[in-house]
Order: sequence, then C-alpha cells, then structure tokens
Amino acid sequence: MKPSAGLSSRRCIPWQGLLLTALLFTFWNPPTSAHLTIESVPFIAAEGTQVLLLVHGLPEHLRLCSWYRGADIANSHRIATYEPATQKVTPSSAHSGRETIYPNGTLLIQNVTQEDGGFYTLLTINTFYQIQQALGQMHVYRILPKPFIISNNSKPVEGKDSVSLRCKPKIQNTTYLWWKNGENLPDSDDLKLSEHNSTLTLLHVTRDDIGPYECGTWNPLSANRSEPVTLNVLYGPDTPTIWPLSSYFHSGTSLSFSCDTASKPPAKFTWLFNGRILKSTHEFIIPKITKSDSGYYTCLVHNSATHLSRTTVKNIIVLGK
Ligand SMILES: *[C@@H]1O[C@H](CO)[C@@H](O)[C@H](O)[C@H]1NC(C)=O
Ligand SMILES: *[C@@H]1O[C@H](CO)[C@@H](O)[C@H](O)[C@H]1NC(C)=O
Ligand SMILES: *[C@@H]1O[C@H](CO)[C@@H](O)[C@H](O)[C@H]1NC(C)=O
Ligand SMILES: *[C@@H]1O[C@H](CO)[C@@H](O)[C@H](O)[C@H]1NC(C)=O
Ligand SMILES: *[C@@H]1O[C@H](CO)[C@@H](O)[C@H](O)[C@H]1NC(C)=O
Ligand SMILES: *[C@@H]1O[C@H](CO)[C@@H](O)[C@H](O)[C@H]1NC(C)=O
Repeated sequence: MKPSAGLSSRRCIPWQGLLLTALLFTFWNPPTSAHLTIESVPFIAAEGTQVLLLVHGLPEHLRLCSWYRGADIANSHRIATYEPATQKVTPSSAHSGRETIYPNGTLLIQNVTQEDGGFYTLLTINTFYQIQQALGQMHVYRILPKPFIISNNSKPVEGKDSVSLRCKPKIQNTTYLWWKNGENLPDSDDLKLSEHNSTLTLLHVTRDDIGPYECGTWNPLSANRSEPVTLNVLYGPDTPTIWPLSSYFHSGTSLSFSCDTASKPPAKFTWLFNGRILKSTHEFIIPKITKSDSGYYTCLVHNSATHLSRTTVKNIIVLGK
C-alpha cells in the first residue's frame, strides 16, 4: 500500500488535511527510511522539572511533524504541529502551554506533573507524503513528602472497636508500606490493607495492637517514612489478683492487703468486707488483726472508660493464740 501515489499529485494540501489523511495510513511505514525513535530525557522525571522527548532518525525532507498525547493519533490528543518550511508551530487542543517543539522535532515539556506521565506519539510526514510514527513514554513521579498517619478512633476499646489507620497524603503511583513495632506486619486475619495499601484496618482491637505503627511511601524517585504512632487502646479491668495469697493468719499480726489489675485507664478500686464497703484504695493495712477480722474480702475494680467491672473474693481466717 502506497498512500503517496494518490497524494503526490496535489502538493499544497493544508497540514490539517495531511494529518487527517495520515490517520488512515498510520499502519504504513516506508521500509527504506531510518528508524524513527523517541527517547525520554530523563527517563524518570520529578514533578515540577522538565522532560525532553528527543527524536532520533527524524526523516529528511520533513513536511511536518505532530506530537500527540497517548498512544493513539486522535485530533483531540494533538499537542502541536511543526512545519519546517515556515518554522511555524501550531498548538492544538492537547497543548497545555508548557510544550515546545524544536526544529529537530524534540518536544520539551516544562513543569511536568504525574498526569503528564505515559505515552506520547510523534507523527511525521515528508515532502513525498510518506508517513512515519513513533511511540515514546515518560515517567513522572513526585518527590515524596514525609507521610503521616491518621487514626479514625483516638480511644478504641478492646474487643469492641475497629480502627482505620490512613497513611497520608494519598499520592498516585506510590507504594505504601507498614511496620508494627519496627517490623513488617504480622500475618493476621485481624489486619486488613486497602486503598492500595495506604489504609491499615485493625478489625478487632486488643491491647496487643497498641503499636507503634509507621507507614512508608516509595516510588522510583524517592522514599519516606512517617513518625511512629501509638494507639491509645482502652482495656480491662482484668479479673483482679489479691495479695497476700495465703488465707490463714495469726491474730495480733499485721495484715496488708493489695489488689492488682490490668486496666487502661487505671481502674478504680473498692474493697468490701463481708459485702460492706471498706476502702477505696488499691491497698490497705490492718495493724493488729483479731478473730473478728475473719471473713470475705472482695476487691472490686471498675474502668470508667470501658464501663466494665470485675471482682475477686478472698476468705481470710484469723487463728486464735
Ligand atoms: C534538539 O534540540 C534541542 C534544543 O536545541 C536539544 O536540547 C536536543 O538535544 C536536540 N535533540 C537531538 C536528538 O539532538
Ligand atoms: C513553571 O512553574 C513555575 C513556578 O510554578 C512558573 O513560574 C513557570 O511560569 C511555569 N512555566 C511554565 C512553562 O508553565
Ligand atoms: C521526607 O520528607 C521530608 C519533607 O516532607 C524531607 O525533608 C525529607 O528529606 C524526606 N526524607 C527522605 C528520606 O527523603
Ligand atoms: C473506623 O474505621 C473502621 C473500619 O473502616 C470502622 O469499622 C469504624 O467504625 C471506624 N470508627 C470510627 C469511630 O469512625
Ligand atoms: C500512574 O498512575 C496513572 C493513573 O493511575 C496511570 O495511568 C499510570 O500508568 C501510572 N504510571 C506509572 C508509571 O505507573
Ligand atoms: C499490598 O501489600 C501486600 C502485602 O504486603 C502486597 O502483597 C501487595 O502487592 C501490596 N499491594 C499494592 C497495591 O501495593
């Protein structure tokens, strides 16, 4: 198939018409011409910098060349057309104001954004109406700022709440990583990654989920890592333990009681003796016990945040002389 045969009789077709014709014949490449290629310099660019799409093997006797965004030649994706004869550059609808075509065909794009990343197509037509096409690609990434973690619950309750940790900002084409206690996330059904791994959900929070957590961001240009974040998980109180552990004591000795429990925030303690309130401290001393101090000592613990209470009862027997 030789499109030049039909076209060469009319040398003064406007370039818009030529491009339209080119659309019909883009599958056709003259076998004899030098290989037209595009090189992106740099290959990976940082947002805000400039990229050159260098043209190698530009055909001689160039009539015009047109740059397109994407891998397809469509009028709506045309950036600009350059005509060597007039040295005129005509911008088209895909021109953003940041693109320049040089006489050697090279396209300069300034202030690139991630949206500029992707494919670019160059179409050339020589004075014999021979058409050539080449595809180039450029990659644009952001220099990643320091990420930060936001939690959707500042006071999750053990056994009740799920917590979402989000690594911000969300930047496209970024790989997100998470660490717990400085190590890779453990394999667990209670941990779920979503939103391209930028969100970590802890499905059933327990006191083992306190952390600290860190998130990291990575792309081919840069990497960064957040400050560690610790979860303020509220839990307990657990069933309290009463000290002393033994039950038998001689009268006249001194007896000190104490009660322990794990709780966050710290539990409120109440001691009862045979069902009557005795003290509201976690420990107390009876300096000289007598037989009448025998009985049931209850330690009641209460967590005002989880609204849970637990008790332990201890039977104390005071032996006579
Ligand atoms: C084309 O011209 C531009 C601007 O003068 C230059 O930076 C670029 O290196 C040239 N391209 C080639 C392939 O030589
Ligand atoms: C590139 O960005 C800088 C700073 O934002 C601006 O001053 C300059 O005009 C921009 N250049 C183009 C070609 O848009
Ligand atoms: C992380 O980002 C901050 C600014 O947001 C920057 O100062 C720092 O150098 C970055 N760290 C790395 C390892 O790139
Ligand atoms: C936080 O996110 C988790 C998971 O999406 C959800 O189950 C929970 O209800 C959220 N908590 C709050 C306080 O919005
Ligand atoms: C970057 O993200 C955009 C949109 O999600 C995608 O079209 C493009 O291919 C990505 N680029 C790279 C280099 O992964
Ligand atoms: C998300 O993380 C998992 C496990 O760490 C990994 O296998 C997967 O490829 C990641 N997905 C994305 C989109 O980065």
